[in-house]
Amino acid sequence: MIKVSPSLLAADFSRLGEEVKKAEASGADWLHLDVMDGMFVPNISFGPCVIESLRKISDLYFDVHLMINEPVRYIEDYRKSGANGITVHYEACGDVEKTLAAIKSYGIKAGISIKPATPVSVLEKYIKLCDLVLIMTVEPGFGGQKLIESTVEKIAEVKKLCERYGKNDIEIEADGGITPGNLKMLAEKGLTVAVAGSAVFRAEDPAAVIEKMKNII
Ligand code: DX5
Ligand code: ZN
Repeated sequence: MIKVSPSLLAADFSRLGEEVKKAEASGADWLHLDVMDGMFVPNISFGPCVIESLRKISDLYFDVHLMINEPVRYIEDYRKSGANGITVHYEACGDVEKTLAAIKSYGIKAGISIKPATPVSVLEKYIKLCDLVLIMTVEPGFGGQKLIESTVEKIAEVKKLCERYGKNDIEIEADGGITPGNLKMLAEKGLTVAVAGSAVFRAEDPAAVIEKMKNII
């Protein structure tokens, strides 16, 4: 079964609490929280105060995706706000090892993400230190984009890398433009967690979409 992590970026921000409840009631496994700083990506979303407020009303696993430069500066803040897992970008860290170690020091799951143009080979050095790899299937920054097909093969490459290092419990997640229509090809390559923003929050029947995605293979 695939885990589904609806991205709150596609929710109605005037009703954030209700939207989180909707995702939860619709069978979401995780909740994906996209943090953007206007520097690493050309968009700004929300920060730890918002996550802390949502933590009070939800027991979902908070899957925090930091699209910010030098995230090591803010790991403690996001942990305190209630993150269960924090994913940072390879491209945004001066010291990737130190950043992953900081996340792990709080006893939560550490993830590493790469943008569409970054090869999977850069992850080799860090695979032993992480619990999750997030493959961006669009350029980070905005929801509602179309999945870049050339990124799909990276899922298989990550799977191979994990096998090579005996890290069979790593979650392999993809993010951007994922729909019930294109998820199967990702799942067949070894995906374990699907992020879906528009596909879930803009759906008439989010529960049906999540159910379909979970059982895609
Ligand atoms: C993009 C974000 C994604 C995005 C997913 O930078 O990381 O999580 O919002 O949204 P959809 O599923 O609409 O592409
Ligand atoms: Zn994301």
